Amino acid sequence: MQDYPYTFGISEGIPTHYDNHITRTLSVMAGQFADQGAYDAALAEGDELLYEVYELKRPEVAGELLHGISIVHPGLVGDEYFMTKGHFHAELETAEVYYCLAGEGMMVMETPEGDWAVEELRPGRVLYVPPRWAHRSVNTSRNQDLVTFFVYPGDAGHDYGTIEAQGFRKLVLQKDGRPQILDNPHWRAPAER
Ligand code: PA5
Ligand code: NI
Repeated sequence: MQDYPYTFGISEGIPTHYDNHITRTLSVMAGQFADQGAYDAALAEGDELLYEVYELKRPEVAGELLHGISIVHPGLVGDEYFMTKGHFHAELETAEVYYCLAGEGMMVMETPEGDWAVEELRPGRVLYVPPRWAHRSVNTSRNQDLVTFFVYPGDAGHDYGTIEAQGFRKLVLQKDGRPQILDNPHWRAPAER
């Protein structure tokens, strides 16, 4: 990490400079895909790589901006597209910006108050995720990586536990070869947990 202005390029979705490379495989998504049988069957075939994150390291304090590249690979678990775990920010009142560089996808979002939104990600589109909105990237392409650049406040932190416990209200499933947004039958309102 350097405290001097820097630039980096992005070559085939990979930053030319980065500090951390995080990989997440099927096994970290236990309970997150709607079709548990399809999930178990997929895992029995192997612990496939679902997504990767390249991070530029910065101090995790207010005033800093954490940034990097997220790559969700194409694939399905049953009818459900490969996706990220998704999270609220631990510091709920913090936002995030995504800029889509390649692929096709959707960002599934919701607030603790029960609002939800799903926005398309396409190359050249910018998505603003306001404070309070949990977010999960879904790759709706069958053959291309979904590549996004993200930036969020240094003090945001991650709350994965809430989504692990309740899921997202909405699922993105492939129906007749196309993405469809459906209610998650396993979603539990915070009050029911
Ligand atoms: O900051 C973000 O929201 C992204 O960088 C995500 O962390 C990234 O897409 C991976 O998703 P998750 O952190 O939910 O595993
Ligand atoms: Ni985030």
